[in-house]
Amino acid sequence: MTDFQIQADAAGVAAAAAERIGSVAAAGGHIALAGGSTPERAYELLRETDLHGATLWFSDDRAVGPEAPDSNYAMAARSLLDHLAEPHRPRVHRIEGELGPEAAADRYQALIRAEMGERPEFDLVLLGLGPDAHTASLFPGKPAVGESGRLVVAVPEAGMEPWVPRVTFTLPLLNAAREVIFLVSGADKAPAVARAFGEPADPGSPAAHVRPDPGQLVVMLDEEAAAGIVR
Ligand code: 6PG
Repeated sequence: MTDFQIQADAAGVAAAAAERIGSVAAAGGHIALAGGSTPERAYELLRETDLHGATLWFSDDRAVGPEAPDSNYAMAARSLLDHLAEPHRPRVHRIEGELGPEAAADRYQALIRAEMGERPEFDLVLLGLGPDAHTASLFPGKPAVGESGRLVVAVPEAGMEPWVPRVTFTLPLLNAAREVIFLVSGADKAPAVARAFGEPADPGSPAAHVRPDPGQLVVMLDEEAAAGIVR
C-alpha cells in the first residue's frame, strides 16, 4: 500500500524527508540519495545531524565529474556533505561519472555487491519524479526501464535535460529496498503524480513500476502536487 504523506508546501516536504533520513541514518542504514532540485532543501536541513553511522549512495547521477554543475553528487556536497562537522560525516559512495556511463555503472554495481552482497536491500532510497513521470534516470520508453538483471545501468541517452548520459539504479534494485520515498512538490508535477500513483497508474510511467515488495512505498508531496490524486 502506498503511504501518501501530504504536507502544506515544499518546505514541509523537505522537513518530513529530513526527519526520516535522519532516523534511518541514526540506525546505521544504507541510504541512496536522489538528485534533482526537490531534495536539496531536505539535505540542507541535515547539516547539523550526526550521519556518521550511515552509508550514502546515489540512486542516479549524470555521467560527469564530481565538480560538474550537473552532478547530483556535487549538489549533495554543496547542500549537505561539505557542511557536516568531521565526526558527523557518513561514508559516501558516489557514482564515478567521469569514467563514462558504462564503466561507471559497472563499477557502482560491483561496489554495491561488495558492500551489500548479491541481493542488496537498501534501507532507504530517495527518488524524485520528473514531469514526464521519469524517476532516477529511468525515462519513459528507454531500455533502462526494462532492465531485469542488472542493479545499475548506463543510460546513454537522457529523456530530458540536461541531455547528458546517466547512470541509474534499475527497477529490480529499487524494488528490493526496505523503503522508497518519492519527494514531489509543485503544481507542475500533479499530472505526473496522477500517472505514477493514481488508480490505475499509467504503465508508461517508469515511476509506476517502483513498487517495493515487501518494502514500503512512501510518497511525500505538497498540496499542489497532490492535486493529481484522489483522496
Ligand atoms: C536526476 C534525478 C531525477 C529527478 C527528477 C525530479 O538526476 O535528474 O534524479 O530523477 O529526481 O527529474 O527532479 P526535480 O526534483 O528537480 O523536479
